[in-house]
Amino acid sequence: ELGKFRHYMQKEIFEQPQALAQTLELIAGGAGITPQHFGARAGEVFDGVRRVLVLACGTSYHAGLVARYWIESIAKLPVTVEIASEYRYRESVPDPDTLVVVISQSGETADTLAALKHAKALGMQRTLAICNVPESAIVRETALRFITRAGPEIGVASTKAFTTQLAAFALLTLALAKINGRLSAEDEERRLAALRHLPVAVQKVLELEPEIEQWAQRFAGKEHALFLGRGSHWPIAMEGALKLKEISYIHAEAYAAGELKHGPLALVDKDMPVIAVSPADELLEKLKSNLQEVRARGGELYVFADAGSEIPESEGVHILHMPEHYGMLSPVLHVIPLQLLSYHAALVKGTDVDKPRNLAKSVTVE
Ligand code: M6R
Repeated sequence: ELGKFRHYMQKEIFEQPQALAQTLELIAGGAGITPQHFGARAGEVFDGVRRVLVLACGTSYHAGLVARYWIESIAKLPVTVEIASEYRYRESVPDPDTLVVVISQSGETADTLAALKHAKALGMQRTLAICNVPESAIVRETALRFITRAGPEIGVASTKAFTTQLAAFALLTLALAKINGRLSAEDEERRLAALRHLPVAVQKVLELEPEIEQWAQRFAGKEHALFLGRGSHWPIAMEGALKLKEISYIHAEAYAAGELKHGPLALVDKDMPVIAVSPADELLEKLKSNLQEVRARGGELYVFADAGSEIPESEGVHILHMPEHYGMLSPVLHVIPLQLLSYHAALVKGTDVDKPRNLAKSVTVE
């Protein structure tokens, strides 16, 4: 069943172009954005929505954090993203005009299900599940649903589920923007074209595996790593750190790069590799000055750059050039090399990649 792959995780990383194409089949050909992508009642449920609350755990939570940047900037709706286990026990202020989005690969995560039930008990009935398992407990509890079509994910580390969740959130962003009158016909066409091309763009990034494998050799001996990103790539840095911890047992932390001076810079020395997610976006110049701060303290930099983010290679500064900059959807491309990096670091360390110690694929108890 593994075919040419050594582990499910590797197979699932390489299945991402296909998983994305299947998830985005709804917009294949000339099909446009419609609320119906989220269920027959979506027009009615979305109508009058004034804010969005995303509830999730782990990697699914990171997908929600990326979506916050998209929904606020394009659909112009305020978004809160909360860890399900916190939300369910917190006294919060409910608002019935909130769209509650629960996101879960398995649809069985105990805290996410309980957070959803808690939101409903507080009077929030506009609920949407983004889930990879159509018959799961979470999907049975929501007014609306979007089923990602990643196919079964066996590796404990979530990979193709994450990128298909992002694709689902991209569609949701456009659907909410359209309903709010924030999406012109040209914008819709342009953004749909980028989504339709996404599987091909991901495929090109996967071809960088041999280079990343070399980086992983150097990494595997480290005990700690720091991941930096800004804007919608900050959650990608968080996801990279989670993947590295989870399967290679290297301690990793992610920070919004602007926070460096507020504490973590004290950790940086020659033994602390710093991984920077560096797309050619409007925050690049800010990020570059953060990277200089790291170099000045002797920290070794591993930079994931893309077309246009020219950062010169120099001593202690390693650059991986991703082939294109992908605008709003850039986080989908930038997570791929981080998945590969943790996979190969784990291989070098000889850990059980598909079944890391102490973890279960589906967390059905709190
Ligand atoms: O099935 P879910 O998406 O609800 O699972 C949530 C987390 O348990 C999950 O994403 C976990 O963090 C992964 N093992 C990360 O790779």
